[in-house]
Amino acid sequence: MKTRLFSLGILLSGILLFVTLTSQDQSEEAPPPDNYECLKCHGKNYYSFENEVTGMKVHKKMNPYFILNHQKYNQGVHNSFACIDCHLPEYETYPHAAELKLEPQYGCMDCHGDDPNYAKFHFDEISIEVEGSVHGNALGDDFKCEMCHNPHYYELGYSKDKRIEEIVATANNMCTECHNYSQDKFYLLSDSCAGNQDITHSWLPSKELHFKSVRCIECHSTISDSLIVSHNIVEKESAVKNCVECHSTDSRLMSTLYKHRAKESRSKFGFINGAMMNESFVVGATKNYYLNVISIVLFSFVFLIILFHAFLRIILKK
Ligand code: HEC
Ligand code: HEC
Ligand code: HEC
Ligand code: HEC
Ligand code: HEC
Ligand code: HEC
Ligand code: HEC
Repeated sequence: MKTRLFSLGILLSGILLFVTLTSQDQSEEAPPPDNYECLKCHGKNYYSFENEVTGMKVHKKMNPYFILNHQKYNQGVHNSFACIDCHLPEYETYPHAAELKLEPQYGCMDCHGDDPNYAKFHFDEISIEVEGSVHGNALGDDFKCEMCHNPHYYELGYSKDKRIEEIVATANNMCTECHNYSQDKFYLLSDSCAGNQDITHSWLPSKELHFKSVRCIECHSTISDSLIVSHNIVEKESAVKNCVECHSTDSRLMSTLYKHRAKESRSKFGFINGAMMNESFVVGATKNYYLNVISIVLFSFVFLIILFHAFLRIILKK
């Protein structure tokens, strides 16, 4: 008996040791890459270098488009990367060689296409949708994923801890970086006019509130069964203008913006479109089957207690 207990003890401590070792393995993070060599120039408004011709140290203004926000870089999904994992190591010397400008850059699909590790994101399907979207049709390969997703800062839009308003703001900033009047980025691609969003959407009441509560893609892309985020942005004539598409019990928001949340909580509560209720009140879209029933039951229960109470009093008095 004793030996049995002893070997059981050894077995248990073995398992314990294994568990602690493996869990330690997981919590051990790779040290952050040292990108100081690049960020000492690309992290600031000014940079300095030694002018080899005059032998003097010079200070210059950095092109604002070439400045990286270190903090945002560290929050992104690629924060374990050194700059020269994606950019050529020749960038370590300054002045940068002129031909570096001509070097093709890695796109998202170069690393993620066909990679089973990322199957759940459906990169290949997204890529096909982008090709067939208004942008793909008008601009072809020039309209890369990077037009919307900054590889330096890319962070998953959805997270349980993020409020819908935050998710919406991040997604909409991608579009308004181009689709607003004064946005130069638009003119990198097109000679037509980047419209004014206030005018184009003047038909929508409470436009400010709507733009805070829904993403542009809710109205501008088709619903996708397999993708969490549909990338098929359609021409303006096919955009959603009908209020009932959202303001109804089978609101399209449940298959778009609230798709993640919906998966988690649709069946948890008795609410129709309950996932929405935590974050906003969408007239017509959130209702509850059971609320009425529950209130009637509660009401009758209270009524019964009062009756019972009265009954006891009468009995006890006697
Ligand atoms: C001494 C300052 C300095 C350092 C260090 C530096 N850069 Fe630059 N970099 C610049 C400046 C200034 C530009 C603007 C174009 C130019 O002057 O060549 C630039 C441009 C670039 C560009 C844009 C090229 C283009 O025209 O599209 C990339 C990419 C780049 N740097 C990457 C890097 C990387 C990666 C590192 C680190 C390995 C690095 N740089 C280190 C100053 C620097
Ligand atoms: C995951 C790959 C990746 C990593 C890591 C990366 N870059 Fe880039 N970088 C790119 C791509 C792709 C572009 C071109 C973006 C575009 O076409 O809009 C780019 C563009 C740039 C530019 C030119 C600015 C612009 O918007 O065109 C600079 C400067 C730059 N990177 C610096 C850096 C520095 C500094 C680091 C490290 C802190 C770094 N990059 C890390 C992929 C990367
Ligand atoms: C040079 C290769 C490379 C490029 C280019 C690249 N990625 Fe990644 N990406 C990676 C690697 C490696 C990881 C895993 C990083 C980690 O786990 O630390 C990753 C992670 C991810 C993840 C998973 C995040 C998670 O939480 O599971 C997403 C989504 C992603 N990248 C999207 C993109 C997008 C969008 C682009 C283009 C803007 C892009 N990647 C460009 C290599 C790349
Ligand atoms: C017109 C802008 C635009 C373009 C172009 C674009 N995306 Fe997106 N993408 C978005 C928006 C908006 C979201 C939702 C917010 C988020 O998750 O970051 C998103 C989300 C994603 C997600 C997260 C999906 C999930 O499961 O949560 C991935 C992965 C992604 N895009 C990959 C790509 C790839 C790969 C390309 C190029 C083939 C691309 N995107 C091109 C706008 C764009
Ligand atoms: C890099 C800049 C850029 C980004 C980012 C961008 N777009 Fe575009 N978009 C364009 C350009 C350029 C056109 C084509 C204009 C033309 O026809 O010349 C266009 C066309 C469109 C059209 C068609 C307009 C029409 O006249 O039919 C819609 C709708 C649209 N974009 C919506 C979006 C949405 C929604 C997002 C965000 C998910 C987005 N765009 C992100 C640049 C951009
Ligand atoms: C409630 C639905 C809805 C939302 C949200 C919405 N749009 Fe639209 N948008 C439309 C409709 C409908 C049209 C077509 C209007 C028309 O033709 O009268 C349109 C037109 C457009 C056009 C083409 C007209 C032009 O200015 O060139 C662009 C681009 C556009 N929207 C971008 C955006 C962007 C960017 C956002 C997010 C900041 C957004 N939309 C949010 C429904 C919406
Ligand atoms: C893409 C989905 C969508 C479409 C299309 C849409 N709405 Fe909304 N609407 C919302 C959401 C989400 C809210 C909730 C905002 C909040 O309170 O967070 C809202 C709120 C409202 C409100 C309340 C505003 C307030 O000041 O409290 C009104 C009124 C409204 N919508 C009217 C309309 C009308 C009229 C149309 C059609 C012309 C329309 N909506 C189209 C999603 C939509």
